[in-house]
Amino acid sequence: MKKIYLFIALLFCSIQVSFGQTYQPTQEILQAREKFNDYRFGIFLHWGIYSMFAQGEWYMTNKQLDCEEYAKVANAFYPHQFNANEWVEAIKEAGARYICFTSRHHDGFSMWDTQASDYNIMNTPFKRDVIKELADACHNQDLALHLYYSHIDWTRPDYPRGRTGQRTCKNLQPDWNNYYRFMNEQLTELLTNYGKIGAIWFDGWWDHDEDSIPFDWQLDKQYALIHQLQPSCLVGNNHHQTPFEGEDIQIFERDVPGENKAGLSGQSISRLPLETCQTMNGMWGYKVEDQNYKSTNELIRLLARTAGKGANLLLNIGPQPDGQLPETALNRLSEIGQWLKLHGESIYGTDAGEFKQGEDIVTTKKDNLVYVHILTDSIKEVKIPMKDKVKNLYKLDDKSVIQYKQKDDTLTFSTNIPSGTADQVIVIELKKKK
Ligand code: GLC
Repeated sequence: MKKIYLFIALLFCSIQVSFGQTYQPTQEILQAREKFNDYRFGIFLHWGIYSMFAQGEWYMTNKQLDCEEYAKVANAFYPHQFNANEWVEAIKEAGARYICFTSRHHDGFSMWDTQASDYNIMNTPFKRDVIKELADACHNQDLALHLYYSHIDWTRPDYPRGRTGQRTCKNLQPDWNNYYRFMNEQLTELLTNYGKIGAIWFDGWWDHDEDSIPFDWQLDKQYALIHQLQPSCLVGNNHHQTPFEGEDIQIFERDVPGENKAGLSGQSISRLPLETCQTMNGMWGYKVEDQNYKSTNELIRLLARTAGKGANLLLNIGPQPDGQLPETALNRLSEIGQWLKLHGESIYGTDAGEFKQGEDIVTTKKDNLVYVHILTDSIKEVKIPMKDKVKNLYKLDDKSVIQYKQKDDTLTFSTNIPSGTADQVIVIELKKKK
């Protein structure tokens, strides 16, 4: 009888698999996901003509501006200090492994030489294809390039408005088919003319999350187009939901997976590679009064806590209208980089560790090594449940050996952490299992 039940259960599962799972990631995608999962640290760049208003990337809608009035700044956009190589150098020095750049944000302005719309960077006095320059710099310096792409457009009349940008356009003429064609034409350009793109990062799905009739974004066809154009390009969507079919990464906005402190990320955690995006100050796009930067120690702790959940941290910077990265952001990058030079081994290519003690201690692991990240300098003694036999215990930065006791499946050791330390990393080397 038991066997019959088992047979029926298995049959049911396989029917579900064959009917429900249409997306079969290719070998290339699986490899790309693994590579992405090893990165652990990337830099998000929110840059567009909105930087000229210096009020963040939502300025048009927050102030209910007319999109045609807003668009007039395009005719003055001349970020003469922009130097893609310098950006990439600073970001590499920080120890980041990838960039995610806003190719077109909700305001609808395209930062590349697109044939699909005149509202683009080539029609500003600057006349330089920023994505081309960034792509070349990334490819030359071996930094992966991901592109953010907004599903929303507050300027085009054909985008069927959702709950944002209701008043930005005078003559709305919703035409989903036309708009969908336009987006796919742009995505085709981005994935054809700029070399290897590591991921497309969508945003805006939530614009229609209150529709009485569920909005059909036709994502499956769009995702398939991306995978067809670049077979190792990952797809992510900042929809704040459990991943949909066809997606390769799961995104958490302003939250370490599972914490949902910002109230945007209550979704369950999938088995896809995870990414947390967070701002360095308060806003994504450049906002002149937003000087409330998180300290370097806070950012390093955030990176460790994200890695402790097995997720990447995509840390945002909003470049200035002159094309430079803000000075405070550059300082943060350099200090994070110095920390990662000594401690990178405990972040890159690690998995989430099993042990965690509130926000004070998190762990990551790799092979027979467990990295204990102590995120507050007041901890004097650490007790960790540990069944496996410990071979050695040492501080990661200077490799100095630490005395320990292992008894009743508990590992105990003392610490003496200099005040102001961001993250004291202790390495537990386990005896290799035969
Ligand atoms: C939100 C905001 C958007 C920002 C994104 C980054 O979706 O609408 O402006 O680009 O978060 O995570």
